[in-house]
Amino acid sequence: MADTDGLLDARDFGTSEPAAGGFHVKGAHGQDWGLRNRLSRIFRPDTGRTVMLAFDHGYFVGPMAGLERLDTRIAPLTPAADAIMMTRGALRTSIPATTGAGIVLRASGGPSILRELSDEHIALDMEDALRLNAAAVAIQVFIGGEHESRSVANLAALVDAGQRHGVAVLGVTAVGKDMVRDARYFRLATRISAEMGAHIVKTYYVEEGFETVTASCPVPIIVAGGKKLPELDALTMAYRSIQEGAAGVDMGRNIFQSENPAGMLAAVRGVVHDGLKPEEAYEIFQEKTAGAAI
Ligand code: 5RP
Repeated sequence: MADTDGLLDARDFGTSEPAAGGFHVKGAHGQDWGLRNRLSRIFRPDTGRTVMLAFDHGYFVGPMAGLERLDTRIAPLTPAADAIMMTRGALRTSIPATTGAGIVLRASGGPSILRELSDEHIALDMEDALRLNAAAVAIQVFIGGEHESRSVANLAALVDAGQRHGVAVLGVTAVGKDMVRDARYFRLATRISAEMGAHIVKTYYVEEGFETVTASCPVPIIVAGGKKLPELDALTMAYRSIQEGAAGVDMGRNIFQSENPAGMLAAVRGVVHDGLKPEEAYEIFQEKTAGAAI
């Protein structure tokens, strides 16, 4: 199908129809036991959702605010996360091996913020991921970006290695500066990632039509937090994402740059796993913040 003329726009997303399958992780019912077991270390079997704490940002931005000390500021947060996403360098140096969180390893890298960000390569061998007991590996996909094609090939190569060893692959939809962040773009980027074999896709929340993004992606969508927002706004975004079909959050700055990261993590858990409304979860944040100040 080389001819792109005459493609009809998608319109019937079946947003109210549950996904077929019977396993608590969307699209994974046909996978082997080991891969489903690893996905269960990320997505809680009782809720089918995850609160993933992301602190991999240093792989291209260096020590940003909140991530200056991984060992003293981030490691103490990790027991409250279902899964943690970081580089192998961060894991080996700063996270205790006693952690019970599902391990999601950043597997791409190359350019820093000083260069073209889409110029990434696979930067992790699956053998080392297995040595680190990874449940999943994560790779950036730059749909519409300068190195779109290589980033998709990187994803496919990682999926081949992941399927060989039963390790899940998280496709991270990276949005270039010139790209419009709307549901149409995210439907394209998330669907391509899933069709190339990603077992989980991370993307951003959009106010209009997010339910069409989650419905048309055959694997679970988890939502990145993005730039730091006031806590109630971040909780509202998490709440809407879940209501509109996301299977969790993969949140970084809105947790580790909060005035009270542990309180914010507890509040996000309330939204994702306990069905709390944003205002109810914000009360948890306020109580924990007041308690911490005493
Ligand atoms: C960086 C990432 C981050 O893990 C992701 O953006 C989540 O962090 P934040 O909530 O701060 O956006 O993939 O490339």
